[in-house]
Amino acid sequence: MRVLIIGASGTLGSHIVDDLKNDFEIIQVSKSKSNIHVDITSTESIKEMYRKVGKIDAVVSAAGAAHFGLVKEITPELNDIALRSKLAGQVNLVLLGQEYVNDYGSFTLTTGILMDDPILGGASAAMANGGIRAFVKSAAIEMPRGIRINSVSPTILSESIEKYGNLFNGFEPVSGKRVATVYRKSIQGAQTGQSYEIY
Ligand SMILES: NC(=O)c1ccc[n+]([C@@H]2O[C@H](COP(=O)([O-])OP(=O)(O)OC[C@H]3O[C@@H](n4cnc5c(N)ncnc54)[C@H](OP(=O)(O)O)[C@@H]3O)[C@@H](O)[C@H]2O)c1
Repeated sequence: MRVLIIGASGTLGSHIVDDLKNDFEIIQVSKSKSNIHVDITSTESIKEMYRKVGKIDAVVSAAGAAHFGLVKEITPELNDIALRSKLAGQVNLVLLGQEYVNDYGSFTLTTGILMDDPILGGASAAMANGGIRAFVKSAAIEMPRGIRINSVSPTILSESIEKYGNLFNGFEPVSGKRVATVYRKSIQGAQTGQSYEIY
């Protein structure tokens, strides 16, 4: 099975790679650090990536940026970061990737706890997360050729505490290893239209 992982060099993506690498052919993609590059904010770049990679059985997105800041300070331009990257970027991976995914393949996108358990400064990210969850639920009933689509909503990873921990006081972190197993469930399981919450 060929599995394309976008965001493979990141904190989350590298755990997904570690979990899957012994059982699947993994194609690692990131913005600049992997052998194959993509910028998910550019539809041309996504098309080019799929042309390079060819047919796959599963697409995993562990990429998607958002601006963190209080609503009173977020400008439309800053909000565009989440709209273009975490929301449209991940949706476009599906829209432009459908024809490259083999029958009974899958897409797995990434959201996050903030849409259900808000923190200060998290509104823009939460907006994108909620959009992805709604898109996945709805798109699942239209996916062709038995293709499934799910999203994963992790709480903060233990490995990200140093970077973001001050924003997540009182949140119990989960290990990247545990979160990665849920991506495996999405790829190898039978469910579709799900939002897997790992809190
Ligand atoms: N870490 C957490 O605790 C946590 C919890 C819940 C949800 N999430 C979500 O999980 C996703 C990944 O988080 P992370 O902590 O793993 O982030 P990260 O460590 O910063 O890694 C981000 C990954 O995405 C790639 N990337 C960045 N911008 C991109 C773009 N425009 N096009 C394509 N790839 C791009 C990076 O590539 P390069 O390395 O080449 O730049 C890297 O591989 C985010 O959407 C985040 O909100 C994370």
